[in-house]
Parts: sequence; structure tokens; C-alpha cells
Amino acid sequence: MRNPALPTSDDHRTDLSGRVAIITGAGQGIGRVYAHRFAEAGASVVIAELNAESGQNVCTEIVAKGHQALAVSSDVTSAASVQSMIDKSMTAFGRIDILVNNAAIYSRMTRATFDELPLEEWDAVMRTNVTGSFLCARGVAPIMRKAGWGRIINVSSGTVTMGRPNFMHYVTSKAAIIGMTRAMARELGPFGINVNTIVPGLTKTEIEADGATDAVWNTILDRQCIKRPGVADDIADVALYLASSASGFITGQSIAVDGGATHL
Ligand SMILES: NC(=O)c1ccc[n+]([C@@H]2O[C@H](COP(=O)([O-])OP(=O)(O)OC[C@H]3O[C@@H](n4cnc5c(N)ncnc54)[C@H](O)[C@@H]3O)[C@@H](O)[C@H]2O)c1
Repeated sequence: MRNPALPTSDDHRTDLSGRVAIITGAGQGIGRVYAHRFAEAGASVVIAELNAESGQNVCTEIVAKGHQALAVSSDVTSAASVQSMIDKSMTAFGRIDILVNNAAIYSRMTRATFDELPLEEWDAVMRTNVTGSFLCARGVAPIMRKAGWGRIINVSSGTVTMGRPNFMHYVTSKAAIIGMTRAMARELGPFGINVNTIVPGLTKTEIEADGATDAVWNTILDRQCIKRPGVADDIADVALYLASSASGFITGQSIAVDGGATHL
């Protein structure tokens, strides 16, 4: 007879068949690659994106490959919009197993020395990057708790370890994510819900982020052990692992995916 303390081989696969994953901010960049990767692994994916057009485009790409996807125009800063996104996901797919809190003010953020940062910019970054992650996690937690299984993946940044200048609002918001993950993991672990943070280093996507100049890239590449630019697929590989049963005994962790630029 199987010892229930031991996982079956099924528990140790990165197959997401039958799972439903919400990925916020999946209309472009790394989020778009998460959506493709999870769909290829068998999940039905919800693209919860502020930009309705880009979200729909990603959804169309995924459906064209024969996978299941739903685009929901959503604003993670609004509790009502988040609840409506969750309701639409449940109506379409009947369950929510995975949440990736990827949406953030990042590639088009205002940069300024911290004492010249407008309060409105500070508030907007905190509201999207921190409060948005809280609202989405709060919305899915009861559904995952009831199912006795869930994965919440939060997204921080290597800038927290390095403390890049002229980004203090962003760096502060991404530091908060690490604490949020640890607190959430303690509360949700008993219900089979694992909560972890991915900490991407500077990552190339189809969007050229403001401020990611050649000089910045050279500094980052100097720090990396692996001497090539990080790409969205590098981050999606780790997200897939964290979204799956393979990561069943890992929670509350921050995992840097940055070619060894930082060692947490
Ligand atoms: N690319 C990098 O170098 C890098 C490095 C470290 C961390 N990250 C983090 O990874 C994540 C993805 O990065 P990216 O490069 O793809 O960013 P990006 O700026 O290209 O994409 C962010 C997406 O979030 C969406 N979004 C913004 N506000 C939203 C809201 N209120 N509601 C719903 N969606 C909203 C945007 O429309 C956009 O599609 C972010 O959390 C970012 O902070 C990126």
C-alpha cells in the first residue's frame, strides 16, 4: 500500500493539465510568456490585463495554438475589477488553481531621485505592485482553500538586492512583495496553498524597458555568473515549476532568476 507521506510520481510533474491559471499583466513582456508556457503545459489561462487590446491579442495567439485561454480586461488596483475578473474566470473554467501576480508598473515607470519623486507616482506604483498583488491573492484564496490546493506566485525584482538608484518607489514595492509572500505562505500553507516569489534579474522581452540602457546591461552582465542576458523564458521555466505539483514542499521562498547576479 502507498505510504501517504510519500508523493506519487504524479505529484512530481510539471504537467498543468486540468489546472486554471490567472496571470495578471499578461498582455506583454514576461507575463505573456508565462501565459504561453502554462497553456502549453495544459492549463487554461486567464490573461488579466489592463490593456484590453494586448490581453486579447495574447489570448488569440494561445487559442490559435489549440490551447484554452480567456482575456479579461482588468485593473488589479481596483477591488471591484479584481472580483469581476475572478467571477469571469470561475464562470469560464469553474476553478482557479494558480495565480501569478505579474502585473506591475515597470517598463514605463517614472524615474527620479527619491526626493523628487511625485507622491502620485509613489502611490501609483504601490497601488499596482503591492496592493494589486494583495487584492488578487485575497480574491483567489477562498477558492484555493476550498479546493485544498493552490499556487500563488508573486514577482519581486533583483533591484531589491542591488538597490538601483532613481527607482525607489519600484524597489520599495518589490521589497514589500517578499514580506507579503512570507506572511501569506504561513497563513495558506495549512490549506495546501504554496506562495513563493520569483526575483527576476534584468530580463529581455519584446518591450524595451525605459532605463535598460546598454550601460545598465553591461553592469548587470558583469555581475552575472552566466554571461548572457536573461530572457523571459528563463523566468517562465521557474514559474512553471512553482505553479506545478513539483514544487509541493517549497513555500515562502524568494527565488532569484538572474544568471547569478545576486545570491539571496
Ligand atoms: N523585465 C525585467 O527586466 C524585470 C526584472 C525584474 C522584475 N520584473 C517584474 O516582472 C513583471 C513583468 O515584467 P515585464 O518586463 O513583463 O513588465 P511590463 O511593464 O512589460 O508589463 C507589465 C504588464 O502589466 C500590465 N499592468 C500594469 N498595470 C496593471 C493593472 N493595474 N492591472 C492589470 N495589468 C496591469 C501592463 O499593461 C503590462 O502588460 C513585473 O512585475 C516586473 O516588475 C521585470
